Amino acid sequence: MYSAQRGDDDMAEHRRTKVWAHRGYSSTYPENTMPAFQAALDIGVDGIEFDIHLTKDGHIVVHHDEQVDRTSNGSGWIRDLTLEEIQRLDAGSWFGPAFAGTRIPTLEAVLRLIADSKRTVEVNIERKAGMVAYPGLEEQAWQMVCAYGLTNQVIFSSFNHFVLRDLKSAHPEAKIGLLYMEGLVNPWVYAKHLDATAIHPFYLSIDREVVEGTRNCGIAVHTFTVDDVESAERLMRWGVDAIITDDPAVMLQVVGHPNAHAAARGV
Ligand code: G3P
Ligand code: CA
Repeated sequence: MYSAQRGDDDMAEHRRTKVWAHRGYSSTYPENTMPAFQAALDIGVDGIEFDIHLTKDGHIVVHHDEQVDRTSNGSGWIRDLTLEEIQRLDAGSWFGPAFAGTRIPTLEAVLRLIADSKRTVEVNIERKAGMVAYPGLEEQAWQMVCAYGLTNQVIFSSFNHFVLRDLKSAHPEAKIGLLYMEGLVNPWVYAKHLDATAIHPFYLSIDREVVEGTRNCGIAVHTFTVDDVESAERLMRWGVDAIITDDPAVMLQVVGHPNAHAAARGV
């Protein structure tokens, strides 16, 4: 059992760092699938992170890579496959035989699961930004988030800050989180410039100064992907708002979450 160790110089107001499940409960379930999201909800996480892409026929699906090869029995680019072709794929067997037949979910199915959940969780939708441009993806996703009444719970993140800027410009009420990998100096200056709700830095790129400087500007720090206890305890002492992790059951214990005991029992 891990416990939160807080010293005198720790978070003055004793906020609890939140635990967000990265691609769902992805250490134990196939990433970005309904079982991974359901399991994360069941153990009582504060939030869920997942990634979105656009199919050939214009549907939003939840998947990490731009190609389906690594996590399914299919091959090819999502942008070249129809939704029907994608939903025929087995996205669970690669992870383990117990998950055979698990499908790549649509954004709509995941939002419905979250909207129907008894608990209110934060939702981090990462708008993918790799080789494929996906024009209009974030606007289409935003409209769906609105349709499910989830605008207050959702924060859009991306490594492509142009699309976040454009989303914020079109919909000022949208929350945006700036993903980045590098060690940035005074990132809050840039984050303020884009009217971002949060920065989403790689956890080894930040220090206490970044966390405090950003939070002092009213901007949250959600950091990824934190899977070791020592790092999580350090980040928690610095006062990060949320850690994004593949192993939320362990991290619920690290942050002293009230749901930690249930999660440890597998409830
Ligand atoms: O949101 C943090 C993290 O998900 C970004 O990286 O590659 O796991 O989507 P990736
Ligand atoms: Ca992601």
